Amino acid sequence: MKLKAKFNVVILAIFSVGLLVTGYLSFAILHANAQKDAVERATLVMEAATAMQTYTQAEVESLLSPHMGEKFLPQSVAAYAAIQALNRMGENFSDYSYRAAVLNPTNSRDKASDWETEVIEELRANPGAKDIIGVRPTIHGDSLYLARPLEITDNACLACHGDPAKAPKTLLTKYGSANGFGWKLNEIVGAQIVSVPLTGALQEARLAFVVFMGLLVVMFATFIIVLNAMLKGIVIRPATTMSEIADQVSKGDLEVPAFDVSGSDEMATLAGSFNRMRRSVERAMRMLDK
Ligand code: HEC
Repeated sequence: MKLKAKFNVVILAIFSVGLLVTGYLSFAILHANAQKDAVERATLVMEAATAMQTYTQAEVESLLSPHMGEKFLPQSVAAYAAIQALNRMGENFSDYSYRAAVLNPTNSRDKASDWETEVIEELRANPGAKDIIGVRPTIHGDSLYLARPLEITDNACLACHGDPAKAPKTLLTKYGSANGFGWKLNEIVGAQIVSVPLTGALQEARLAFVVFMGLLVVMFATFIIVLNAMLKGIVIRPATTMSEIADQVSKGDLEVPAFDVSGSDEMATLAGSFNRMRRSVERAMRMLDK
């Protein structure tokens, strides 16, 4: 195998393995980062929902309760405040959603859909679990959801979600007695589910991956081209010329011009030594001829 081929085979092998490993790792990291970013966005929306509920409970409920005698005001309900506020997110966030999905809800709007029911059943089966994170396809592309169990930890909730006979009359007038009752203390009745778009983040990750790998390939290709050119100019061409001269001298042709020595690298030193050796050989041959 020629010198150039040897270099190229070894370097190409190293680059191919390097490219594969780098590609695999960088794709995995970029993908994980896109997912992590989506989880962070979803957590932020979830925290906002919790904050709105806490605020409503702490500051709004007590202001509205004196007016609930004749008409039930859902604005006093913490869950309602978060749902209503977060469903008013701007156009740029149309593929974000917040749901208080419940198996048996007071407001039919909050009835868990098929996939939400599956998530809720999973949460009910694992009472200790905190959040469930998953990805599902939607018409806008992949969407990441963060589901947090809605567990009834306060007896006060049961005033309106326990026995309908004990519920406020105005609530029954507005919502009827068929739904949203029979909830139990410590029961997971549903889940708060935040959905955020994932496709955009994944596309960005893929673009970054393609640009990164493309640059690596261009860098490798440039390296190989430059290395080959240098190998040819600095090592292969002088070595070939020297071997041709040696060949001719060995056949007795003493008229071949001396090898042109320029530069100060190892090849130039070798060429200088070669020329001196050639002159010695020529002298010896002439002495023998006499
Ligand atoms: C004063 C009565 C009342 C109390 C007390 C109350 N809720 Fe509700 N809750 C409602 C009403 C009414 C709705 C439906 C509001 C709407 O139209 O969206 C509701 C809705 C909800 C929802 C959304 C799903 C659904 O059923 O439509 C959740 C979740 C919820 N409540 C949880 C709780 C929890 C947890 C507590 C205790 C911390 C609680 N509620 C206390 C009246 C009440």
